[in-house]
Amino acid sequence: MADSSAKLEIGGNTHDYAVKDGSVGPQVIDIRKLYADTGAFTYDPGFTSTASCESGITYIDGDKGVLLHRGYPIDQLAEQSSFMEVAYLLLRGELPGKDELAEFKTTITRHTMVHEQLTTFFRGFRRDAHPMAILVGVVGALSAFYHDSTDISSPEQRRIASHRLIAKIPTIAAMAYKYSVGQPFVYPDNNLSYAGNFLKMTFAVPAEEYVVDPVIEDAMDKIFILHADHEQNASTSTVRLAGSSGANPFACVAAGIACLWGPAHGGANEACLNMLREIGTVDRIPEFIARAKNKDDPFRLMGFGHRVYKNYDPRATVMQKVAKDVLEKMGVSDPIFDVAKELEHIALNDPYFVEKKLYPNVDFYSGIILSAIGFPTTMFTVLFALARTVGWVAQWNEMITDPAQKIGRPRQLYTGPTQRDYTPVEKR
Ligand code: ACO
Repeated sequence: MADSSAKLEIGGNTHDYAVKDGSVGPQVIDIRKLYADTGAFTYDPGFTSTASCESGITYIDGDKGVLLHRGYPIDQLAEQSSFMEVAYLLLRGELPGKDELAEFKTTITRHTMVHEQLTTFFRGFRRDAHPMAILVGVVGALSAFYHDSTDISSPEQRRIASHRLIAKIPTIAAMAYKYSVGQPFVYPDNNLSYAGNFLKMTFAVPAEEYVVDPVIEDAMDKIFILHADHEQNASTSTVRLAGSSGANPFACVAAGIACLWGPAHGGANEACLNMLREIGTVDRIPEFIARAKNKDDPFRLMGFGHRVYKNYDPRATVMQKVAKDVLEKMGVSDPIFDVAKELEHIALNDPYFVEKKLYPNVDFYSGIILSAIGFPTTMFTVLFALARTVGWVAQWNEMITDPAQKIGRPRQLYTGPTQRDYTPVEKR
């Protein structure tokens, strides 16, 4: 795979490093022997120039605004496919045939119920706990409830754990919601689709019949597709790093959920909706644009900017359309949708945002949709985690079977004190 080489001169010596080509995308300099050769490390906080692994799952061209899963563009998948099909594609590498898809759906459906004792486990949480706090705890606890699929050296156990995670995460997410609003848990209904079942478990109550609205079901499915995977982002890298030590997949996905919670990552859609509500009306937009541009003000336009996309996030384009469909269907004329569209328009034409290549990201419109469907803001990141679980699981499986896989162990640029002698407290 080595196509050319790069030369590094350090301490008067020159060293050659192989430069590798992927199937598409930037070349990669293989520096694995750098420390052994030179005694020097590389320094790259935030991994802005570092490839941590080889992967064949997802490709992003941030400059062009391209996102491909196993080669298929995200807009084609969102418009024409289903979340179950995308899950299969991410896990297995190819789109399923009719029978394969039917079998996969049956397998996932058969695992949707959770161990009954989990309901007792939930009751240990405070009622006002953030559903992400519940999610991170309960998913971590799955390793205690499903210990029979935690042997990562067994392909069969890895397969079962993967299916369990994808199948049970909607049930757990819905339970986290039900617990927070004091309503009884709703059991999965295996006659429904993945998205439809999740909607029912979230919004149905025993006292009334619940009919899944096909427009909302379709929007939910699209939102799941748009969040399914995104290459080596912070939470996925967390899952891989946790998994690199041999930790079981339930624990690794819990680590991914913890990382996703932050406002710079999965928490951004909640922060974005709060920001849009704070802006409130179109006439107040200039004030907030000015704040975003002010170096002395920590305020940032939430839902804008991305580490990788320096162009329109292709997921945001689909998301804007879904927002329009859902608002129309729900008969909601939410003024913050107008605020969002106008804010987008102004920012896309403002030199500050243009020069810094700050475009709307996937989170810019998702909060508006989720709010119109009836989810409280605290559930937004939970929904992201639900959808991303399939990506985490696919990436974790890829890592476990990669012969080049090693425990992740970054090095550092040490700037602390050099060696000194201890003095007893009475002499300090
Ligand atoms: N509003 C105003 N200015 C911004 C914004 C923003 N949303 N985002 C970046 N900038 C500015 C920075 O101040 C910086 O300016 P400078 O070069 O003059 O110092 C420049 O653009 C580069 O920003 P960085 O923070 O260095 O870029 P980085 O790649 O580290 O950050 C991030 C990316 C975290 C997403 C950032 O754009 C941000 O905070 N956005 C808002 C939060 C958000 O929407 N997150 C969702 C990400 S998508 C996801 O996780 C699914």
